[in-house]
Amino acid sequence: MKSISLNQFLDFLNQQTSTSFKTDIVDNFLKNHKIDHEEFLPYTFFREETYGRNLVAKNDFFELLVLTWLPEQRTPIHDHADQRCWMLLELGSLTFKNYEPVGSIIDGKKYQLKPLGKAETIKAGNQSVYIDDSLGLHSIANASRKPAISVHLYAGPVPKCRIYNETLKSFETVELEYFTFSGNTWNEDIQELH
Ligand SMILES: [Fe+2]
Repeated sequence: MKSISLNQFLDFLNQQTSTSFKTDIVDNFLKNHKIDHEEFLPYTFFREETYGRNLVAKNDFFELLVLTWLPEQRTPIHDHADQRCWMLLELGSLTFKNYEPVGSIIDGKKYQLKPLGKAETIKAGNQSVYIDDSLGLHSIANASRKPAISVHLYAGPVPKCRIYNETLKSFETVELEYFTFSGNTWNEDIQELH
């Protein structure tokens, strides 16, 4: 496995198109290349209120994020808006749980969900994890009492997704926000530039 810099990884990603992201080109690249953990540190910001979504880079075809997880932080149950996702777990361990709808749908949006298969806990290592909507709705949670850091490549970018409200038993579409953008704390001034 060849060690590469984050810039070399971004060069590779910037050469891809919406079509090439649908092939196994990313899987093959991740199988043969390793990006040092330190490369992601300038983008690693932990957030107290919720897990942190830190944007590293983005174009029309992909977005690359560093997600930070303090103990007990987790995502809601969500889908991936039909986009593909590859994850590298840099630190700690994360638990993935899949869900499927059960019973009838009320008003086109009310569902009961039940767990699909067993929850799977993944520890930091060199292996990438692949996620798409064919794997079903899912949630991700920090599995330990220590912080976790994961890198997520989405192709294409996922500006919105559906999340499941466990109290209302229904889905809502939410716009996904960034906690930081390219290593800077996200604020209105930066937002206006893009
Ligand atoms: Fe996800």
